[in-house]
Amino acid sequence: FDRPRVLSGIQPTAGSFHLGNYLGAVRQWVALQESHDAFYMVVDLHAITVPQDPAELRDNTRLAVAQLLAAGLDPDRCTLFVQSHVPEHAQLGWVMNCLTGFGEASRMTQFKDKSAKQGADRATVGLFTYPILQVADILLYQANAVPVGEDQRQHIELTRDLAERFNGRFGETFTIPAPYIVKETAKIYDLQDPTAKMSKSAPSPKGLVNLLDEPKVSAKKIKSAVTDTDTVIRFDEKEKPGVSNLLTIYATLTGTAVPELEHRYEGKGYGALKTDLAEVFVEWVTPFRERTQEYLGDQETLDSILAKGAEKARAVAAETLAKTYERMGL
Ligand code: ADP
Ligand code: NA
Repeated sequence: FDRPRVLSGIQPTAGSFHLGNYLGAVRQWVALQESHDAFYMVVDLHAITVPQDPAELRDNTRLAVAQLLAAGLDPDRCTLFVQSHVPEHAQLGWVMNCLTGFGEASRMTQFKDKSAKQGADRATVGLFTYPILQVADILLYQANAVPVGEDQRQHIELTRDLAERFNGRFGETFTIPAPYIVKETAKIYDLQDPTAKMSKSAPSPKGLVNLLDEPKVSAKKIKSAVTDTDTVIRFDEKEKPGVSNLLTIYATLTGTAVPELEHRYEGKGYGALKTDLAEVFVEWVTPFRERTQEYLGDQETLDSILAKGAEKARAVAAETLAKTYERMGL
């Protein structure tokens, strides 16, 4: 295969994707399936690092897959699968656990952030070692690049360290992946607090746009987005974070350059921008929701897509694991 290989995962925990997930991640996945040999997975093994209700987890996993398909992932152009369907993740995860220093794992800042949210006593060992499972996720597929947000950069560094360590001790086995921080990746901010990242754990639901909510509800949130007391529509993240966020969303959803939008809205007020953006969003999200519902309503198709995806993924993962075991004397 001459196309570079990428691997990325998304958690099934949120139910509906939000606008930040779509514009910041899923949209790039769709683009990358054209230029890369892309492996995308719903990481249900990562989801159980924090308590999950079984029925909810099962539903959310399918819901995530349905949304990825609705967003444009094509199972004939990429490999789309559920992590737990490929047992090699847990198997290579154990090998990587045994290669990681305790101090090295303790330096992962994401664990500190996430366990602080859980309460230190309640955090599981699984949560502590989840970056190491992530290492296995990546190395199993001999990925050249991993599209990630800035917050995941440290985990890519760990992946490179462990791959080099293994290769040094046991012989060339793993491709050393590079982080792939997509330049045009939009970072989307909370509509009520445009200095905070839009997140499913947003303090106010009014700042969060969930793709599967009633479009009317989301339109209303967009129209009541916090801006500033000025009137000029100009991209300036420092001075005008609210307006800049709306411009970013508008630009990425429509493929229009921000300067072009600034020009179009010269002399017009924030109200016009918000009303138009609400309309743009509703027009985009309506067919997205319909397609998601269609996939959810057709269990058979969804199951067969996932079975094929797991089969394609396993063909690569099993080969890597066999080589790893062999090298280690297992
Ligand atoms: P959340 O931050 O809501 O918990 P996740 O951590 O599940 O979302 O993120 C899933 C993917 O979406 C990741 O690739 C992450 O980088 C991306 N993402 C999440 N929030 C945003 C945002 N506000 N802007 C851009 N990308 C985002
Ligand atoms: Na996050």
